[in-house]
Amino acid sequence: MDIFRIEGPVRLSGQVTVNGSKNAALPIMAAAILAEGQSSLAGVPRLSDVRLFGDLLQTLGCRVERDADEPMRIDASVISNPVGDYEIVRKMRASICILGPLLARCGRAEVSMPGGCAIGDRPINLHVRGLRELGAEIHLKNGYVIAEAPKGLRGASIFLGGSFGSTVLGTANVMMAAALAKGRTVVESAACEPEISDLANCLNAMGARISGIGSPRLVIEGVPHLHPVQYRVIPDRIEAGTFMVAAAITRGELKLVNCRLDDLMAVVDKLRNVGVTVEPTADGCVVAGTDHLRPTDVTTQPYPGFPTDLQAQLMALLALAEGNSVVIEKIFPDRFMHVAELNRMAADLRKEGPAVIVAGVKNLVAAPVMASDLRASAALVLAGLAAEGTTIINRVYHIDRGYERIEERLNPLGAQIFREDAPAP
Ligand code: EPZ
Repeated sequence: MDIFRIEGPVRLSGQVTVNGSKNAALPIMAAAILAEGQSSLAGVPRLSDVRLFGDLLQTLGCRVERDADEPMRIDASVISNPVGDYEIVRKMRASICILGPLLARCGRAEVSMPGGCAIGDRPINLHVRGLRELGAEIHLKNGYVIAEAPKGLRGASIFLGGSFGSTVLGTANVMMAAALAKGRTVVESAACEPEISDLANCLNAMGARISGIGSPRLVIEGVPHLHPVQYRVIPDRIEAGTFMVAAAITRGELKLVNCRLDDLMAVVDKLRNVGVTVEPTADGCVVAGTDHLRPTDVTTQPYPGFPTDLQAQLMALLALAEGNSVVIEKIFPDRFMHVAELNRMAADLRKEGPAVIVAGVKNLVAAPVMASDLRASAALVLAGLAAEGTTIINRVYHIDRGYERIEERLNPLGAQIFREDAPAP
């Protein structure tokens, strides 16, 4: 099991290219199930979660291939086993987004319940509600969701909002199922995340008829068949936001390439709020840090609000602001695994229910810390870049789930991150 040894403080400078979006690629890989034949997906990032999702598709009967820098090829001519196995689903909650396409393609699906994870419960009641509205019979058995639609799916008007707002993968599941349902489906309170728009655009390229893309109201006219597709996924806005914070927290300057600034307006707003410079360029932006960070308040919300996936990274930056900030997590109220670890690095963070009071400090100090979930781990890397001394991050596999060899991306910019074997226990 790898660890990171990070020498700090450093000041990053240079240019970095943003990879394709993990959270667009995973549901788009699932969408390949809907069409007999081989789809080709470009821009899919090389991440452990993507490899695991490819393994999952292969257990269903798909053939998944990828050579060198070639696009990923998914041949879904045969779906011999519409069952999402617990051994894979328990490692990656996103596996749940095979439910809708399997149901639409095969008329039945069995997918293990995702269960909880480091950022909190991962319920699927909205997924189930939406698919039932489309005519599926769904029951739970031995920890598996069993969904059947022997007579096919039919269009419906579905309100998909929950107590935390919209659901990203719930919208993905319902949209993919409705694409092959008989008749019209209207989804109200659909997720508006760019990754859902990317999925909808990919489905339309496969022959679906989806309108209202990017809005909370999707209209899907069911079609009898979808055909395989050649498609390129959008850049990863969360990786881009992480690199923007890396520039800010090290008081450096980075040029981001292949970054859609329009997907990050709430993040750019907050960074400018605290004194970070963000200058748009033709295909991204230039981000420059400041020696005097201002405090701010931030609340995570569904898109276009401030993304929960960048909450931990922004908190690491606010730990160095000149004053007190308040961070409120409205999407996953327990998503604060990074707080105790950042405090080990001399941050001054105090959890108050769904909020954390961030009292800015002058410096962070290196320490051994524990990675937990993907984005909390990224925040610890950012803190390690700014902290004085040698930071050791354990359980680096969490970071590899969402960032492709992050040390190979950051070291050319001035970081000193060394991937090493964990010492024998
Ligand atoms: C997606 O997860 C992302 N994952 C998450 O990114 C992201 O944090 C999340 O959306 C919110 O933006 C992928 O796209 C693979 P939700 P998802 O359903 O779809 C509640 C990362 O770090 N809810 O939008 O699983 C839920 O508990 C990952 O890349 C229900 O109550 O999240 C949460 O409070 C982490 N019932 C809120 O809705 C349901 O049926 C939003 O969850 C479904 C969700």
